[in-house]
Amino acid sequence: MNLKTTLIETRRKLHAAAETGFELDNTKKLLRQLLSDISIPPHEQAGGLIAELGRGKSCVLLRSDMDALPLQDGKSVSYRSLQEGFCHACGHDAHMAMLYGGALLLKEVHLAGKVRFMFQPAEECPPGGALGMIEAGVLEGVDMAFALHLAPWLPYGTIGIKEGATMAATDNFKIIIRGRSGHGAMPHECVDAVLSASHVVTGLQALVSRMADPLEPLVITVGKISGGTAANVIADSVVLEGTARTLSSEMRSKLPNWIENVAKNICAAFGAECELDYMFGYPVLRNTNGGIEIAVEAAKKVVGEEKIVRLDRPLMGGEDFAYVLERVPGAFIFLGTGDEQYPYPLHHPCFDFDEKILPVGAELFRELAKIVLRDA
Ligand code: NI
Repeated sequence: MNLKTTLIETRRKLHAAAETGFELDNTKKLLRQLLSDISIPPHEQAGGLIAELGRGKSCVLLRSDMDALPLQDGKSVSYRSLQEGFCHACGHDAHMAMLYGGALLLKEVHLAGKVRFMFQPAEECPPGGALGMIEAGVLEGVDMAFALHLAPWLPYGTIGIKEGATMAATDNFKIIIRGRSGHGAMPHECVDAVLSASHVVTGLQALVSRMADPLEPLVITVGKISGGTAANVIADSVVLEGTARTLSSEMRSKLPNWIENVAKNICAAFGAECELDYMFGYPVLRNTNGGIEIAVEAAKKVVGEEKIVRLDRPLMGGEDFAYVLERVPGAFIFLGTGDEQYPYPLHHPCFDFDEKILPVGAELFRELAKIVLRDA
């Protein structure tokens, strides 16, 4: 069977078996079988799988995530998810197939060092699965690390590379606002938590426009508001839940105080009280210069210089591969799957892509490993 057919079949099996978070029994079973069949049986570590090829002092780490999203597959294709309410809508099934393809290709190469294949759980649910594997030693002896992500926002078959800050720090927050309930017709005898919450929501946007340096990206989104019981009852409590995205650690470190000040003081103005729970998520993902150089060289080999897109803007999405790149040099690389036939973005229940891209990812993994180990 040729590489393309093998990888399409692999991807489809993984796609149908979609699982989320750390609950990846069937996914890991499939990977264990595939890797064992090519004589690189993986071992389990912190909910993930690690397989290793080659020997020697130098070591390059290649990573794929394994988890799907908790949403219903909206596609009507033969390989659609068989797991009710779970769907690989972020392409992690493709990442696994491509990393497996990388292993297949690297088996045929004489290696002057080790390639470590990292299959990690729970990328989609902070605090994520990478950190646990790092704590358990997945980066021991690693010189450089690389990961790929499908990018439907880039032209099909291109490879997107960004220098420096590439993905945002992604924090979440919860603001609990407490007022005093009463009759909707007698506001003067109550403290209206809904009104305070409304002012807090707009006040938070003023942080973006008035407190943050206009040249520093900041996104604050309140995505969920819950409170109140009836149309004619003044609400005694409201909970706001949101996310904050930044690209600098300086700005990030200011946010909990800024948010707390705005929320507390606005609430105080109306007699309400509030409490902030700020949860730091993934840090800023930063590609290193050495990692970029290797990524560009590998991409040239696989798709040619004209298909390399040098991205000048980071993404405000987050990625726990950031923890890996905080510790070892390397890069997070985008693989363009933009195609009129597949118009849906990542995280859409109908997201899909032309599977002919799978061997490209596998070849990119092979070239990355070859270059690192050649230079080591
Ligand atoms: Ni993803």
